[in-house]
Parts: sequence; C-alpha cells; structure tokens
Amino acid sequence: MHITLGRCPGRGRIAGPGAVRGGGLRPGACDACNRSRGRAAGFAGNVPVVSSPLVPFDAGRPNVARGYDYVLGGKDNFAADRDLYAEVLRIYPLAAALVRENREFQARAVDLVARSGVRQFIKVGSGLPKTLNTHEAAGRVSTDAKVAYVDNDPVVISHVTALLAQPGSIAAVPGDMRCPAAILASPALTELIDTSAPFCLLLTMILDLVEPAEATRIVDEFRRAMPSGSFFVASVSVNNDGDLAERMLKAYTAATMHLHSREQIASYFAGLELAEPGLTEARRWRPPDREQVTGDRPADVLAGVGRKPARG
Ligand SMILES: C[S@@+](CC[C@H](N)C(=O)[O-])C[C@H]1O[C@@H](n2cnc3c(N)ncnc32)[C@H](O)[C@@H]1O
Repeated sequence: MHITLGRCPGRGRIAGPGAVRGGGLRPGACDACNRSRGRAAGFAGNVPVVSSPLVPFDAGRPNVARGYDYVLGGKDNFAADRDLYAEVLRIYPLAAALVRENREFQARAVDLVARSGVRQFIKVGSGLPKTLNTHEAAGRVSTDAKVAYVDNDPVVISHVTALLAQPGSIAAVPGDMRCPAAILASPALTELIDTSAPFCLLLTMILDLVEPAEATRIVDEFRRAMPSGSFFVASVSVNNDGDLAERMLKAYTAATMHLHSREQIASYFAGLELAEPGLTEARRWRPPDREQVTGDRPADVLAGVGRKPARG
C-alpha cells in the first residue's frame, strides 16, 4: 500500500496563502488543479506551492471526522468533539438520527451500485472506519469490490491504513475533494482503481463543507472524468428553518458549513440518470421498512444516486 503523508497525492501540492491569485488560480486548491487553470488563463510557469492536502492534527479543537465518529457512537474522539456535538444535539436532537440515516442510505446505495455491476468505489471524505463501511456493503454483493477511501484528515488516513487497507481491494488515499484531478491521478488510488472503467464516486455529507458554487465545480470536474456507466452517490444537509439553520451553523465549529438549497443539490446530479426514487431524504431512499419512515423535519439530509449515461 502506498501512502504519502505530508504531500498531495498525485503530483499536486496545496497552493498556500502566498499563491498567485487571479488568472483563475485558487489558493487552497492543489498544484495539479491550479496548473491546468493557470494554463487555461495564460499563466506560464509553476504556481507557488506549499504543504499538503492533509489538515493538521489538533486534539484541542473540534474536528469534522472525530465529531462524526462520536455521534455514530465511536471512541476515536476527544472532549472538544464531544462538546461540539453536545451543543449541536441540544439545538437539534435529530442530528444524530440524520447521521445514522446517512450511513444507512450509503449502504443501500452501494448495494444498488454493486448489483448493477460496478465494483470500483471512490469515497471522498471517507470518515473514520465505522460500521456500514463502503467495502462491507459492496462485499455483501461481490468479493471483488475495490474501495479507495480518500480523506484530508491524517487520523482518518492512518486508521483506514491500520484497520482496513488490503492490497488489491482497499486503499487509503490522502486527498482534498477540492482537487478532483489530483485525487484521480494519485498513485495510491490508481494502483487500485482503473479510472478508465466505470466507478462509483461517493461524496456523502462533505459537500456541505464548501459553498454551493464550489460544490458545483467539484462535482463537474469529477463527472467529466467519470466514464459512462459510472455512478455518483451524494448526500447533503438541507435546512428549511432559517433560525434553526443559523443556530446550527454557528454551533458547528469544526469547520465552516454552508447551506445548500434543494435545487442546488438537485443540480449536482445534472446530466446523470437518477435512480428511483430520485433525490429525497436519506431515510426515504429505498427504506427497508416504509412504515418506519417518519414525517417531514425542519432539517434533514437529501440523498441521491445518479448514473452517467452512455454518450448519445
Ligand atoms: C461528516 S464526515 C462524513 C463521512 C462520510 N462521507 C459519511 O457520509 O459517512 C466528512 C469527512 O470528510 C472529510 N473531509 C472534510 N473536508 C475534506 C476535504 N476538503 N477533502 C477530503 N476530505 C474532507 C473529513 O475529514 C471527514 O472524514
């Protein structure tokens, strides 16, 4: 298994605050992305680059992956993560159910994809290994499934490496979702996944961490790189109550979360054939027991599965 901590996978490195601005170059985007953007903008030469796609470890500050682990009942979290979710759950007690339902949705989505014959999975923003991991859901359908778990958190990468990585079937890939080109070119990923053949991309509960316009760009870049027959599985939080949304965004200090409207989330599936029942709440996406599905909520998770059609 190939892992390079401290450098962007592929040839990219993250452009730092001193990176060239303008010309379409984006600080925070990796070198690989910026170089192609720079060329498009007529910028010749290398973009100044620094550091890595991985966020620094800090036990004293709330963290996205560890907070998510806590709310799913995991043990890989610290007081700062638990305090964060104590506040989030005080404001919206259903937040824990949303996270659980999001995991259950993913398992059902992966099952559908694997049954459709696609056995390669790239999960960007994998989170810490939990129950209902992608390889487990795919493994129920086929023993030859391959899963690349991509994350920008070094703790996630080391846990996936230690607990799950298996040469030929599971890889841990350091990467930043804002740099699709670098992720797809990463040797750790391409050793396992043949990106010229259909694959399934999962972006679940991660697009919330960028603004809708940035989510559109990220999804577009991935979609263009996906061969026909590939799948896209996504889930994004929605909030229909302005006051609740404001309080939740303020309380969630692990990262800056952004609100995405239903229409914006639907647009992330543009050009794809949506699997039934289309874009809907995670708990309403092919639930095992329809009777158990409860009514509307002020805040929820929207989820869908799209397939890239054959070129017409
Ligand atoms: C809320 S968790 C969701 C985990 C998983 N996708 C799920 O739905 O069960 C978000 C994950 O995305 C990772 N993440 C956050 N920003 C990222 C970025 N820019 N690139 C890659 N991973 C990122 C976090 O480290 C965390 O593991």
